[in-house]
Amino acid sequence: MPKIISGTEISKVMREEIVSRVSELSRKGITPGLGVILAGDNPASHIYVRMKEKACEAVGIYTAIQRFSADVSQKTVVDLVNKYNNDEKIHGILIQHPLPDGIDESYVFGQVDPVKDVDGFHPVNEGKLLIGEEGFVSCTPLGILEMLHRSGYSPEGKHVVIVGRSTIVGKPLAALLMQKNKRANATVTVCHSRTADLRAITRTADILVAAIGVPEFITADMVKAGVVVIDVGTNRVEDSTTEKGYRLVGDVKFDEVKEIAEAISPVPGGVGPMTITMLLHNTTLSAEKTAEKLQN
Ligand SMILES: NC(=O)c1ccc[n+]([C@@H]2O[C@H](COP(=O)([O-])OP(=O)(O)OC[C@H]3O[C@@H](n4cnc5c(N)ncnc54)[C@H](OP(=O)(O)O)[C@@H]3O)[C@@H](O)[C@H]2O)c1
Repeated sequence: MPKIISGTEISKVMREEIVSRVSELSRKGITPGLGVILAGDNPASHIYVRMKEKACEAVGIYTAIQRFSADVSQKTVVDLVNKYNNDEKIHGILIQHPLPDGIDESYVFGQVDPVKDVDGFHPVNEGKLLIGEEGFVSCTPLGILEMLHRSGYSPEGKHVVIVGRSTIVGKPLAALLMQKNKRANATVTVCHSRTADLRAITRTADILVAAIGVPEFITADMVKAGVVVIDVGTNRVEDSTTEKGYRLVGDVKFDEVKEIAEAISPVPGGVGPMTITMLLHNTTLSAEKTAEKLQN
């Protein structure tokens, strides 16, 4: 049986660590605060925001959540971003993606003060990641790195193949794994829908990350024996035997691939909980930086 890289278990440990960090901050008179903007009626976005709110509450992070209907103007959203930028109680800002049609999402993300950009989507933070400077890194790639480390699979010197080149997962993860430091130092290959002979490449991976958005796309014949697999995919597939009428599956055919992998992350219970945990981590980190500035 392979080792199961459980994001749920790693998150539990990390969230306990965050509780201690939040208590330490409270001794200095600071409560980490997250300002959230949710616009529109995308049901998944509402669920994600509720999950993030609950997670913040559980570790002692204060949240200010503003919900807008889908016809909110871009100016109203930007005004709120500026209000959060100038609010001392807010250390991190989360704008739930996607924003409604008619709002220029990249413009709005660009209005967040980079020092409060706990989602790591501001171009300044994306640029810093690329050149190896300290800044906020987006939560999903950061969570994947943490999962590898905490389960004993350092990417250093390994060939990591990432399938998927999105701005929120594939690209920042590649930049993170390429960093010249002990936590990274990987040799990285990034694949996408135009990659020729994908299977030949995925079969050379020591560590394979699937961020494709196609249910059970990675099959056993696409990996080598002993591979470590991180499955980012979160896909709903119809299932009339469940109460909700669907179930969640990853981008990896788990039952098949687990037979030959050294280690594998499940869906659900893998990358998903880690993404939220890293949001808590980044918000706490931002508050710690504020505390440090106040001390100096
Ligand atoms: N658990 C979490 O916290 C979390 C966070 C983020 C995303 N996700 C999940 O991760 C998955 C990917 O998300 P995303 O936002 O990165 O998706 P995305 O923006 O749609 O990107 C998908 C990537 O997969 C590539 N791709 C699609 N079909 C392919 C194929 N047949 N062969 C090779 N590559 C293929 C695409 O290639 P092209 O660039 O050529 O189109 C693209 O680069 C989704 O299931 C999403 O729900 C989970």
